[in-house]
Amino acid sequence: MITFLFKVIEWLKRGYHTQYVVRRCRASEVPLVLGRIYINATNVRVGKNVTFYPGVYLWGRDIEIGDNVDIGIGTIIYSRNGVRIGNNTSIAGQCYIIDSNHGTAKGQLIQNQPMNTAEHGIDIGSDVWIAAQCMILKGAKIADHAVIGAQSLVNSDIPENAIAFGTPATVAKFRK
Ligand SMILES: CC(C)(COP(=O)(O)OP(=O)(O)OC[C@H]1O[C@@H](n2cnc3c(N)ncnc32)[C@H](O)[C@@H]1OP(=O)(O)O)[C@@H](O)C(=O)NCCC(=O)NCCS
Repeated sequence: MITFLFKVIEWLKRGYHTQYVVRRCRASEVPLVLGRIYINATNVRVGKNVTFYPGVYLWGRDIEIGDNVDIGIGTIIYSRNGVRIGNNTSIAGQCYIIDSNHGTAKGQLIQNQPMNTAEHGIDIGSDVWIAAQCMILKGAKIADHAVIGAQSLVNSDIPENAIAFGTPATVAKFRK
C-alpha cells in the first residue's frame, strides 16, 4: 500500500514538473520530464521525444532543442544569443553550455563590464554526444555526429564525426 502511495506521489510530481515545462516552452510534443527542472528563458523550443533529467536549468533566450534529444542531470544551458541543439543528440549530466563571457578589461569592475557574447550563439549538431561534465563555451560549434569526451572544454569548431576531448578539446580520432 505504502509503495503504491509513493508511486502515485511520484506520478503526480512528474505531471507537475511536466506541466511546468509545457507552460514555459513551445513544445511540439509533451516532453518526458523526470524531475524538477528550472526554466528562466524566453523562446525555448522543444522538439518531439525530448527527455529532461532532473536539475536541468535553461536560462536566457532562444534555446532550440531538436527531436529525440536527452539532456542529463544538472546540465545548464545559458543562452544570450541562441543555443541550438540538433535532432538525436544526447547531452550528459553536469554539462554547462554558455555563449558569453564577462568583460575582463583592466581597471573596471568585471561586474560592471558588458558581456562578451558569441555573435550567433552556439550550435550543436545532430547525432552529437556530449559526455559528462563538459563545458561548451563561446566559440563552440559542434558539427553533426561528433562526440565530445567527458570533462572536455569546447570553444572552437569540432568537425563532423570527430571524437574530441581535452581542455580545450582537440580531435583525437573520427568515428568509423
Ligand atoms: C571520449 C570517449 C567516448 C572515448 O572512448 P574510447 O574511444 O573508448 O577511448 P579510449 O578509452 O580508448 O581512450 C583513448 C585515449 O584517449 C584518452 N581519453 C579518452 N577519453 C578522454 C577524455 N574524456 N578526456 C581526456 N582523455 C581521454 C584515454 O585516456 C586514452 O589515452 P591513451 O591513448 O594515452 O591511453 C570516452 O573516453 C568518454 O569520454 N566517455 C564518456 C563517458 C560519459 O561521460 N558517459 C556519460 C553517459 S551519457
